[in-house]
Amino acid sequence: MRSSCLAVPRPRAERLRQWLLERGLLRTDLAIRRDEQFVYLPVRGDVDVEETRPLEMEFEEREREPRWQEALAGVLPDGASLSSFDVVGDIAILRLPSEMESYKREVGRAILSAQKSIRVVCNDRGVKDHYRVRDLEVIAGEQRTETTHREHGIAMTLDVSQVYFSPRLATERRRVADQVQPGETVIDMFAGVAPFSLVIAAVSRPSQVYAIDVNPVAVRYARLNVQRNRLQEHVTVMEGDARQVLPSLPPADHIVMNLPHSAQEFFSLAVDRAGVIHYYDILEPEKIGERLDWLRSQAEEKGRQATVRETRTVGMYSPRQVKLGVDVVID
Ligand SMILES: C[S@@+](CC[C@H](N)C(=O)[O-])C[C@H]1O[C@@H](n2cnc3c(N)ncnc32)[C@H](O)[C@@H]1O
Repeated sequence: MRSSCLAVPRPRAERLRQWLLERGLLRTDLAIRRDEQFVYLPVRGDVDVEETRPLEMEFEEREREPRWQEALAGVLPDGASLSSFDVVGDIAILRLPSEMESYKREVGRAILSAQKSIRVVCNDRGVKDHYRVRDLEVIAGEQRTETTHREHGIAMTLDVSQVYFSPRLATERRRVADQVQPGETVIDMFAGVAPFSLVIAAVSRPSQVYAIDVNPVAVRYARLNVQRNRLQEHVTVMEGDARQVLPSLPPADHIVMNLPHSAQEFFSLAVDRAGVIHYYDILEPEKIGERLDWLRSQAEEKGRQATVRETRTVGMYSPRQVKLGVDVVID
């Protein structure tokens, strides 16, 4: 079948694919094509992205779409589509493009009817404040935003409209947990409802995880989740600004810093207490080297040495920016 597409140099293709997918611009009904230099991403209509070539070419059709996509095809106007959504517990969280807003009730009902495990459908209108809370509207199903999400054998209750939570970080949480040894001490500086702390405590049996957050609602859920998962002996939840709380804690073998938009502000504070720092940031890939040098220089200013053990892309933030995960060993 003939379709518009973007020809993108191979090294940039995966990031652009994810970005197009998240915005419903990628045609998931057609199979992506490749040659030695380029990847050809089939797109809906005219999509203009810097440093890519718009073309038209033949694509093979792909296997059948998931049921919810089939259900949506019946309610959306020609050319509109939604390629993915997050699921937290039994709540689906969509990011509807503005041109699909007027169909939100139909979209919500179609998802409810096609996916029986979903009881609530919310539209996500963006992140609101420094608690990193999303501005959500329930568009179908039960009128509630509290749910229980299961990950790595841990049950986490949370209100998706009052606290930050991303199910996409499940692999990352496990990756960090696997680096912690039994008996070690961990500080989770920006803990939210404590997913990192809980997974680390359950998987690696550290002697103590200190989970700090400034959002009182997140702290309430974190305490509830620690109790529900019977991890009181291993996790201590602390309410407050990490700037004030951290200096009162003992040195830690690991510090988790999942506040990517402002982690730089807190890095030198963490250097005083670590250990290994699991640091997250959002930046353009070409600036990664510069940022790693900056992390090393911050440690040097404190008379310490920072060695980067591993860097990885945890996800896409925008077509140009990635969410970067870095494990930094402080000596
Ligand atoms: C991106 S969320 C991460 C939450 C959690 N680590 C997770 O993976 O779900 C960042 C969290 O940092 C908290 N936060 C923001 N500024 C803070 C500060 N100065 N001290 C402690 N927590 C803070 C927010 O309330 C939010 O829950």
